[in-house]
Amino acid sequence: MVAEVVAGLNCQTDQVYVDGTVGQGGHAETILTHSAPAGQLVGLDRDPAALEVAAHRLQAFRSRFRLFHSCYTDLRDILRNCQIEQVAGIVLDLGLSTQQLKQSGRGFSFLREEILDMRMDPKTPVPTAAEILNTYSEPDLTRLFLRLGEERWSRRIARRIVVARRQTPINTTSQLVELIRQAIPSKARRGRIHPATRVFQALRIAVNQELEKLTAFIPLAVSLLAPGGRLAIIAYHSLEDRIVKQQFLTLEKTGQLRRLTRKPIIPSPTEVNRNPQARSAKLRVGVKGGNSN
Ligand SMILES: C[S@@+](CC[C@H](N)C(=O)[O-])C[C@H]1O[C@@H](n2cnc3c(N)ncnc32)[C@H](O)[C@@H]1O
Repeated sequence: MVAEVVAGLNCQTDQVYVDGTVGQGGHAETILTHSAPAGQLVGLDRDPAALEVAAHRLQAFRSRFRLFHSCYTDLRDILRNCQIEQVAGIVLDLGLSTQQLKQSGRGFSFLREEILDMRMDPKTPVPTAAEILNTYSEPDLTRLFLRLGEERWSRRIARRIVVARRQTPINTTSQLVELIRQAIPSKARRGRIHPATRVFQALRIAVNQELEKLTAFIPLAVSLLAPGGRLAIIAYHSLEDRIVKQQFLTLEKTGQLRRLTRKPIIPSPTEVNRNPQARSAKLRVGVKGGNSN
């Protein structure tokens, strides 16, 4: 939804924009193109591998962009260090990049045999997915799969994990997939989505504290926007989208943000055909302080 993001941000030629999840630089590249010749971009990502790809992709824009290895919740400090007080637009494109899913080797995909790490920043000192699976109590695992994966069979899966880990620690994606298969009823193994989808989602969200970061970020982002500045957020599952929707509504009630999208913008069928990962994307855009310029 690159075109929709650029339209949502209303890119101008002499303003500063932030891409808080720069990934492989797709959105950043389009923002820099649409804000030529003098627009600036500050790009952040937690994943150093993503920043390398983005830096290479954006090199033609030379001095118009700066990239930082950082969580988007550190944006205030990053902007202060760049001596930038306010920006004209901020975008977050949440979730995983294709590179993380297919090439990182960190256990994000249940279709590959990898170690269950799942940290977006491999140097962050937080428990990995394997550490969670091997140390959480059965009720804690049940709650995690239920709350962050909305997994119907949470209790059975947690039980199976706790029994299995008494014999061998759970360290790989294939071990976890097999335990999930064993735990759920045979009918549930043949559903529309892969039976491991929700547990993998729950673990990734927990490891990276994704909901807490997003919740903290939205008011911070609004405080860093100039009047009339835009905030655009793409969410990929209902837990994220609910946070964006509710926070935008709360900020609107207090006059801090006006929603430009009452209903989220979703990708066109052509985009979904081209990139099936985009099928669940929902974009919401708000403008600071009720002024739509
Ligand atoms: C869907 S990808 C972004 C793709 C990007 N828009 C592009 O066009 O290439 C999401 C990116 O957000 C990063 N990310 C997720 N949570 C983050 C956080 N709290 N702070 C900074 N980056 C984060 C991930 O590492 C990943 O590279």
